[in-house]
Amino acid sequence: MSQMIKTEVTEMLGCKYPIIAGTMARISNPEFIAVASNAGACAVLASANYGSPDELRDAIQKTQSLTNQPFAVNINLFPALMPQDKLEDYVDATLAEGVKIIETSGHKAPEDLVPKFRDGGAIWIHKCAGVRYAKKGASLGADIVTVVGYENGGATGVLDIGTMVMTPSVVDALDIPVIAGGGISDGRGIAAVLALGAEGVIIGTRLMATKECPIHDNLKQAFVEAAETDTCLALRSIQNTHRIWNNKAAQQVLELEAQGASLWTLVDAASGEKAEEMYREGDIDLGIVACGQGVGLINDIPSVKELLDRMMVEAEEVISKLNIIAN
Ligand SMILES: Cc1cc2nc3c(=O)[nH]c(=O)nc-3n(C[C@H](O)[C@H](O)[C@H](O)COP(=O)(O)O)c2cc1C
Repeated sequence: MSQMIKTEVTEMLGCKYPIIAGTMARISNPEFIAVASNAGACAVLASANYGSPDELRDAIQKTQSLTNQPFAVNINLFPALMPQDKLEDYVDATLAEGVKIIETSGHKAPEDLVPKFRDGGAIWIHKCAGVRYAKKGASLGADIVTVVGYENGGATGVLDIGTMVMTPSVVDALDIPVIAGGGISDGRGIAAVLALGAEGVIIGTRLMATKECPIHDNLKQAFVEAAETDTCLALRSIQNTHRIWNNKAAQQVLELEAQGASLWTLVDAASGEKAEEMYREGDIDLGIVACGQGVGLINDIPSVKELLDRMMVEAEEVISKLNIIAN
């Protein structure tokens, strides 16, 4: 039984575990968010999944009907993923539905949105991939900063600093709580990140291989079989580096980049519609999918609750076993 690790993050967000179930484009729907929040994480709904603020409102209401546990809404600051002139409307919709935790992700901290977060009484978490961006978020008033290191599935930024160095660097640079991740797939990873000074962890890739994750079983099985070497970095040529699973679609994108393809050719090749079809139909070479190096540590497909309970018990065991200093 988990003894319950309490941290500033569990206190601030009101979740059982110091775990953020990272937002995943085209995957983090209300049903999955509710499952992860009911299992003890603070899960993050991807507002980029919704074409309008009204659709987002419907999704929030659906999530609220499925869980009374805390969850957050992600506002994506990458121009390719969300219409940036509509961000305020998405924030308004989020606040109007009573969601009190907002996560932003992207290089550029959202200066213009900060007054809305404040007036709406929201806890603002800014997610980024570098000390300089973390400092900027904190200076603008972020309540929590999330940092992800180079191992991370999805956007890795440009600095290529691993979680092991990124985490304590950001913890040292800020005086607000830090959530860290990139490569966390088991309780050892949670214990390690807490030892580095984080108050919480974020996980994404590991959650793909769970019973409730709304993707095809073929892809879950492929993640079970994958090694830590089976990811690659794509879209660096358009300053949008993403760590993705190294399948045929990834190879095609890398070839196009090597040929100097334009932004829109690449966006088209990396299109989320193909990923959606892959998630639905199970042709695992069809689309590109974000995937971190922690995929190499995945060995089974448990329910989200089984996974999170197990990770926390393991984290506690690791922490207590570390009492290894000779008297
Ligand atoms: C399939 C997938 C899709 C993701 N989509 C997004 C996204 O749309 N926006 C975002 O900020 N992060 C996204 N992420 C990143 C996660 O929220 C989280 O930060 C990351 O997965 C943590 O690293 P890990 O995968 O090594 O656990 C995605 C990750 C994965 C695996």
